[in-house]
Amino acid sequence: MRMAASLLRLHFLDCFVNGCDASILLDGRNSEKFPTSNLNSARGFEVVDKVKNAVEGACSGVVSCADILALIARDSVLLVSFHLWFLKLIRRDGQVPNQRGANLAIPSQYDTLDTIISNFGNVGLNVTDVVSLSGT
Ligand SMILES: *[C@@H]1O[C@H](CO)[C@@H](O)[C@H](O)[C@H]1NC(C)=O
Repeated sequence: MRMAASLLRLHFLDCFVNGCDASILLDGRNSEKFPTSNLNSARGFEVVDKVKNAVEGACSGVVSCADILALIARDSVLLVSFHLWFLKLIRRDGQVPNQRGANLAIPSQYDTLDTIISNFGNVGLNVTDVVSLSGT
């Protein structure tokens, strides 16, 4: 249950910075993996790596990391809640991590409610989404 929530959260954190491009999976100096606004809240990278390796083993170089992350989020939620949503695929992978963008865009637990609602609004999400996704 907890990992399903974490995997949904990983997708959601990724989408806050330059869209759902899997840039949260990139390592390096500007990695988005551990934004200061959300320190220690991103987890489940090892599950994503395991799925990515299995997909690459079956058909190498075909499915983007961005699609894999979106499918992992959807299917992990499906497995624990039977909620399913339609996904359009063929996302392109981001090539450059944006740590500054992550620190600016991802709401922190110390932000005011107005700031959090505003940050969600910047990516097309509303108050219902704030309530749903803040619980993960
Ligand atoms: C937020 O958006 C969702 C999906 O479009 C919608 O179902 C929901 O009613 C909206 N909530 C508010 C508070 O506008």
